[in-house]
Amino acid sequence: MRVLSTSTHGFDVASLFQERARRKLENYKYRILVISGKGGVGKSFVSSMLSLALAERGRRVALFDADIYGSSTPLLLGVEGVRHYLDEAGEILPVEAPLGVKLVAVNLMLDAPDTPIVWRGPLVSRGILELAARVKWESGDYLIVDMPPGTGDVAITLAQLMPRESHALVVTAPNALSEVIVAKAVNFATSTGLRLLGIVENMSYFKCPYCGREISVMGVLSGESLATRYNTRVLARLPISPEVNRAVDSRKPYLLEYRDGEVARIIRGLADKIIEILEK
Ligand SMILES: Nc1ncnc2c1ncn2[C@@H]1O[C@H](COP(=O)(O)OP(=O)(O)OP(=O)(O)O)[C@@H](O)[C@H]1O
Ligand SMILES: [Mg+2]
Repeated sequence: MRVLSTSTHGFDVASLFQERARRKLENYKYRILVISGKGGVGKSFVSSMLSLALAERGRRVALFDADIYGSSTPLLLGVEGVRHYLDEAGEILPVEAPLGVKLVAVNLMLDAPDTPIVWRGPLVSRGILELAARVKWESGDYLIVDMPPGTGDVAITLAQLMPRESHALVVTAPNALSEVIVAKAVNFATSTGLRLLGIVENMSYFKCPYCGREISVMGVLSGESLATRYNTRVLARLPISPEVNRAVDSRKPYLLEYRDGEVARIIRGLADKIIEILEK
């Protein structure tokens, strides 16, 4: 199936796609871009599990996996083997993930998930616009966007694509909590017109299963003071949990597999806080 074409015909195709996509995304009441200043801090994990937690609370949720090179939400949601289809009008139908979460991910258009995407930068930005424009998004309460790592071209394209009053959730880990890295993500959010929802500190500590003590594994935490400096708040602190990777290894959604897990409990708390902030 050939989904992404990026040929120009003498007019600005990119802005055409941008307009069309923006109009469709307006049909979601709340849009949250999950960003970070650095890769590998748990954006995809937080985006996927937050989507499930919001869906558990009766919200209609769509998850847009915008990490073209490193799409990992299909695996985290246990729908790796499913593929996108087109409807009669040629629109891309989101994949149905657990709890009715609508998932859109480039990986679900490839013949096999391990097929590498070998596009150069400018093509990726335009590809993501075309993808967003050609999806049959319908409408819903929350659109969660799992962003690619960093604050480069594609991230800027996505942020600018969002309708007004979209939000940014910054995910970071203690070893990525340097002021410069968090500042980069925060500045990215504000300079692209996103409203900063808050910070999620992931892999904050490891809780000893025997004595319950919290051990700082990835470095010393300074999220609270950074948050104060940037006039925002830490919405959640998630521990490192072996259960997360056990769920990933068995290709099952962590939140549903370890319902009573510590991380699951905190993710649900995060969903409640977000609902309280945005829907009040
Ligand atoms: N709290 C946690 N406890 C244990 N493992 C975790 C936790 N959060 C995330 N992980 C694991 O860490 C790895 C990186 O997470 P993830 O892919 O979500 O990061 P990312 O920020 O999306 O990375 P990238 O920048 O490459 O997109 C994954 O294997 C994930 O399962
Ligand atoms: Mg990711």
